[in-house]
Amino acid sequence: MVQIMTYLIENEMAALIIPSHFIAQMHPHFREVMQVLAIQAADEARHIDIFTRRALLNRDRLGVSAVAGQVSLKTLIDEPNFAIASFLLSVLGEGSFLSLLWFINKYAPDPITEAVARLAAQDEARHVAFGLAHLRQHAKRDPGVRAQLAAAVRRRHDVLRHTAGLNAEVFDAMLLLAAGSWNTDALRQGHQRVMDLTRDMDQGRKSRLLRLGFSVAEAAELSSLHTRNFM
Ligand SMILES: [Fe+2]
Ligand SMILES: [Fe+2]
Repeated sequence: MVQIMTYLIENEMAALIIPSHFIAQMHPHFREVMQVLAIQAADEARHIDIFTRRALLNRDRLGVSAVAGQVSLKTLIDEPNFAIASFLLSVLGEGSFLSLLWFINKYAPDPITEAVARLAAQDEARHVAFGLAHLRQHAKRDPGVRAQLAAAVRRRHDVLRHTAGLNAEVFDAMLLLAAGSWNTDALRQGHQRVMDLTRDMDQGRKSRLLRLGFSVAEAAELSSLHTRNFM
């Protein structure tokens, strides 16, 4: 749990920085958008707080962070274009995180973890919904934006091509969580459940991409190129 929470905290940190950064650049005329982003940033601050408390419940040190995950998150933080950043973060990243949070909720070893994963997933669902609604509207007014979004996914994939993807410590922790014990058969089942999770994430990304007007082939390609770090 400590390692999984450490991973979540790291990702939530990026999700807090990105909307905060855009609020500071926005024209005050777009006050509703500012409100949504401010609430989103506040949600992420709560997620960081609660996941840190859960991680440090029984010990005083967090788990490990890996370079691959940091590089992946940095590509999000460095993205200056709002449409591209919200596409990569909210539609693809937080969309994948919805599956992850429901996975943690399902296999949680204690009621607190179960509850915090469920409550965070409810918040993330709003962030994903806003990202999708915003980009659907954007694509309706400017159909060329879809090509820009697709190019951004391919570019990010190229930048991350030589990184390891998901931290092995996190993968093992998720496997053990889903297994529920160190028993060999349980571990095999845990592995299967993590594979099911990645398939579920892929399905979710593809269905959101279709809702933004991408073709079935484009949705499959772009989902497969999404960072293996999930966010
Ligand atoms: Fe969050
Ligand atoms: Fe979020």
